[in-house]
Order: sequence, then C-alpha cells, then structure tokens
Amino acid sequence: MNNHVTTESKSHFDVIIVGAGISGINSAYYIQDQLPGFSYAILEARNDLGGTWDLFRYPGIRSDSDLFTFGFPFNPWNHGNPIADGPAIKEYMRETAQKYGIDEHILLRHRLSSANWSKADNTWSLAVDSDGVPKTITARFIIFGTGYYDYKEPLKADIPGLDNFQGQIVHPQFWPEDLDYKNKKVVIIGSGATAITLLPNMAKEAANVTMLQRSPTWIQSIPNGSNNRRLSYLLPTSLYHRLQRAIWIQRQRIFFLFCQFFPSLSAWYLKLGVKWHLPSRVAYDPHFKPRYGPWDQRLCVCPDGDFFDSLRSGKANVCTDTIKTVTKKGITLNSGETLDADMIITATGLKLQIAGGVALTVDGQKFDISSKYMWNGVMLQDLPNAGFVIGYTNASWTLGAEATAKCITRLLKMLESRKLVAAIPSVKDQDASLLQERPMVQLKSTYIIDGPRVFPRAADRGPWQPRDHYGKDIRFATKGNLNDGLEFVKGPSLRLRKKLA
Ligand SMILES: Cc1cc2nc3c(=O)[nH]c(=O)nc-3n(C[C@H](O)[C@H](O)[C@H](O)COP(=O)(O)OP(=O)(O)OC[C@H]3O[C@@H](n4cnc5c(N)ncnc54)[C@H](O)[C@@H]3O)c2cc1C
Ligand SMILES: *[C@@H]1O[C@H](CO)[C@@H](O)[C@H](O)[C@H]1NC(C)=O
Ligand SMILES: *[C@@H]1O[C@H](CO)[C@@H](O)[C@H](O)[C@H]1NC(C)=O
Ligand SMILES: *[C@@H]1O[C@H](CO)[C@@H](O)[C@H](O)[C@H]1NC(C)=O
Ligand SMILES: *[C@@H]1O[C@H](CO)[C@@H](O)[C@H](O)[C@H]1NC(C)=O
Repeated sequence: MNNHVTTESKSHFDVIIVGAGISGINSAYYIQDQLPGFSYAILEARNDLGGTWDLFRYPGIRSDSDLFTFGFPFNPWNHGNPIADGPAIKEYMRETAQKYGIDEHILLRHRLSSANWSKADNTWSLAVDSDGVPKTITARFIIFGTGYYDYKEPLKADIPGLDNFQGQIVHPQFWPEDLDYKNKKVVIIGSGATAITLLPNMAKEAANVTMLQRSPTWIQSIPNGSNNRRLSYLLPTSLYHRLQRAIWIQRQRIFFLFCQFFPSLSAWYLKLGVKWHLPSRVAYDPHFKPRYGPWDQRLCVCPDGDFFDSLRSGKANVCTDTIKTVTKKGITLNSGETLDADMIITATGLKLQIAGGVALTVDGQKFDISSKYMWNGVMLQDLPNAGFVIGYTNASWTLGAEATAKCITRLLKMLESRKLVAAIPSVKDQDASLLQERPMVQLKSTYIIDGPRVFPRAADRGPWQPRDHYGKDIRFATKGNLNDGLEFVKGPSLRLRKKLA
C-alpha cells in the first residue's frame, strides 16, 4: 500500500508507534482520540497489519481468550462466539483500523532497527529500514507495540537427533502455505496452546496425529456458542457490548482468583471437566494430570471440546514421555516405545523478546532493558519518552494494552499542559537499596523461566511494582499520580514542529 503519501513522505512525528498488532492499533486509537492534532505514524516491519494474527498460519489458529475482552474496547467484537480463528481476528483488526482511519497512518515494510534519544534536542532519532532503503525519522515519544517474542527466530528446543529425521520438520511459527499432511503420520512435540490447537485440526486430514508431551497441561473446554443472546434484544447495542465485556472481565478474574486461592478445589473442578470429555481408552493419569496448580501457567482452552473429540475419533493420540532420540523414521522414547512419523511439528514455544529487537541508546550510550525497573508497567527506568505495551498473560492481553494506552495519553496531555517536553522514570538513590525484586510476570511457564533474561525488572514497592489486574491498572491509568517516580524536563512544546529542511 503506497497510497499514504502524506504519512509516507513525512519524517517528523510527535508520536511513533512501533508495530501494527493489537497493541499498536489500540495505542493509535487513543492517541488520535485523546490528543487531536498530535501527528503520529505506525512503523510495521511486515507487509500487513495484524502482528501475531498475520504471522501465525497453522491449521486451526485461534484465540484462547474470549474476543469480548481480547477485542478493542472502543470497537467491540460484535459476533456471538467468544473464540475466533486467526483470519477472523485479523479481519476484525483491519476493519477497526479502517473504521477509525488508523490504516492511513501505518507504514508497512518499515522496520525500526535502532532508536537514539538526544538529551540536547529531547527527541528520538530513529533508524528505519524501509524495503532495504534506510530512513531517519524523528519523534518526541515512542510507543513499542512490538509484542513479546522474536518474529524471526523461534525458541531453540533441544530435541536430540532431530537432524536424523528424513521426513519434514515444521515449526508452527513458519507454517508452509501449502503444507500437505494428508494421510501422513504426524507427531507434534509440545503441550501448549499451539499443540492443543493443532491436534484436532491436523487430525481431520492426517492419518494419525500424536501429541508428544514431556508433562501435561491444564485444559478447559469452553462453549463457543452465542453468548447472552437474550440480553442483546433487550438492551441498546452499545450498552449490551459494554455489559458483555464487563461480565467476561469479571468471569476471567474470578476464575483466576479461584484457581490461585483454592488450588485443590479448582484442580478437582478442572479434572472433572477433563474426565467428562476423555474417551475411556485415554488415561487421565499421566496424560492429563499436570504437575502444577491451575493458572500457575497459562490455562489452555479448547472450544466446544474439539481437542477431546479428536481423541475420541481415534486418529489423535497423546503420549507423555521424553525423547531419547529422533531417528530417520520417527522418535524413540526413553520408555523404549517408538513413534513412527512422516512429519514432526515442533510446537516448542516462542523466543521472548521485548521492544522488537530495537537497539536503544540514550545520547549514543547503549540502554539495557533487562537491567531496568519498569515504571507502572508502562515506561522504563532512565529511558525518556518511551512507552512499552506489555499486556496481561493471565487475562486478555488487550486489557493490559488498554491500561497502557490510557496511561500514556494522560501523561502526554499532562506534559503538554505543563510545558514539559520529557518524562524520565527514575529511582531515587535513597530508594534504590530498599527495592526488593519481584517477578514482572508471575506465570511459571517454561519459556518465561528458562533462557536468558529479557524482561525488565519489577520491585516490591512504589511505581516499580508489577502490574496487578485490569480494574486497578485502569484506575491508575485514569486517576493515579503520574509524578511519583518520574522526572521531567521543561521545554517549549511536546509537539515536534515540522522543521524546514
Ligand atoms: C498463537 C498465539 C495465540 C495467542 N492467543 C492469545 C489470546 O487468545 N489471548 C491473548 O490475550 N493473547 C494471545 N496471544 C498473545 C498475543 O501475541 C497477544 O495477545 C497479542 O496479539 C499481542 O499483540 P501485540 O500487538 O502486542 O504484538 P504482536 O501481535 O506480536 O505484534 C507486534 C507487531 O510489531 C511488529 N514489530 C516488531 N518489531 C518491530 C520493529 N523493530 N519494527 C517494526 N515493526 C516491528 C511485528 O511485525 C508485529 O506486527 C497469542 C499469541 C500467539 C503466538
Ligand atoms: C466458534 O464459533 C464461530 C461461530 O459459530 C465459528 O465461526 C468459529 O469457527 C468457532 N471457532 C472455533 C475455534 O471453533
Ligand atoms: C497411531 O499412532 C499411535 C501411537 O503411535 C499408534 O498406537 C496407533 O496404532 C496409530 N494408528 C494408526 C491408525 O496408525
Ligand atoms: C545519538 O545521539 C547523540 C547525541 O545527539 C549523538 O552524539 C550520537 O552519535 C547518536 N548515536 C547514535 C548511535 O545514533
Ligand atoms: C496476574 O498476574 C499478576 C502478576 O503478573 C498478578 O499480580 C495478578 O494478581 C494476576 N491477575 C489477574 C488477572 O487477576
């Protein structure tokens, strides 16, 4: 799309948003709604908007949150079904971007490679790669809506002997468009949301699909039928949507708290659900008895029990074991058993990454994200005028993105009205020694615990505490004290006037 001549030809913006996924589009809406007159552009490395929902193309790709809370707060999901597939989510994102004119601000195939803050100019200088052509863009404020994982490289899983395999090896992050698995014997390695989505969907065509897991995951079947239809006839549409969203937010939160406070009771409840759906030939223990409490890791859902239905069909199987080695024609397990395979799917996870791999510098000095504390889950210690959209992992991501966008727009309004040009989170010297570190994200998923540290830090007090939940975070975003933990720089205006070349 090269029709955005106005955005395309400009090189100074008040706000630059990086990423045209859920977080970027959501941020753009709040910028244009709350700060009319501010110029902004979205830099997107890919050839289309959508982010996660453009990248992932494996069969059955879908949300595992309900769309009432995963959808944009300002343009509610207006279909009855809570779970939607990838193409439907991307289409909804496109419709939203068009409806609010956000699409005209998106610069596709624009990858941000480095960002340098100049203290003298109070401005970001951004090195952008646009179709191989380098460009420099300047901005006062930058918002990273770059998600939380590396788009180019998946998590390296250590699978012994994988090189021996003579069939096809596929990673879900790079699904070949025309992959033919009809009548093939498939082994999926992994037990997360992706494996649980793939199993029933591949079993439709494959000869035999086996999900090979080291250890089981909690799975909950949720109905994907139309919701609260009766209310929709009684209430005005916008009120109905708001009510529906509020109900789903509370439902999620209550269930999460139930799992955290009553681990045994919730485990019993989830076990009951699994056993109800499981065909008799598949044992609950060891295949479905997780070694951790419900919601200590992200809970997996399956719409209308599709996962369990496929087990009942006989073409899908679950195997709980560890790999001794991959051979030419399959996998030998440590129990001595073997699995024949024509194709192996490595659903082994994402490589975590914050800020889209952009090299950050302040006056040319390298800035190390993982050594810094996060200010109210929005900005980073010592980094001026930069917001990071990190949504929730134990509720819909978008709810956290909403809180972040509202906080940033209120901060920008405050800066503008007080004739300030920059805000810098800073930990006072006398406080630094008091801070006790707390995990940024509480879920104990392997990909969050393992691997090198990429997330910023969180602490036990003040504005450095980790995010909590939607209600509290929205209250902070709309009413909280923005002075606590921030230092400011005075200046003529936050708006970057178009300079004459
Ligand atoms: C298969 C899958 C299913 C998921 N399902 C759910 C779910 O049901 N519910 C839920 O809450 N969460 C879910 N998640 C998490 C999900 O990624 C987020 O909820 C959400 O889509 C993230 O949106 P985002 O805009 O923050 O990031 P992304 O969707 O990852 O988008 C980031 C965008 O930034 C762009 N970008 C990155 N770096 C640069 C750069 N340097 N320059 C320019 N552009 C850049 C990328 O190209 C991309 O378009 C799922 C994740 C996966 C992988
Ligand atoms: C959920 O229901 C909707 C509407 O019936 C349907 O389009 C969609 O494919 C379903 N999703 C899944 C993952 O079953
Ligand atoms: C499918 O795979 C399982 C596990 O490897 C095996 O027990 C079963 O016999 C296979 N079924 C068919 C039809 O190949
Ligand atoms: C960043 O900006 C500073 C000051 O404006 C400049 O001296 C430095 O060379 C720049 N560094 C990079 C990597 O662009
Ligand atoms: C989600 O996790 C955060 C920490 O990451 C925790 O403080 C919070 O209570 C959890 N909340 C939800 C959604 O209820």
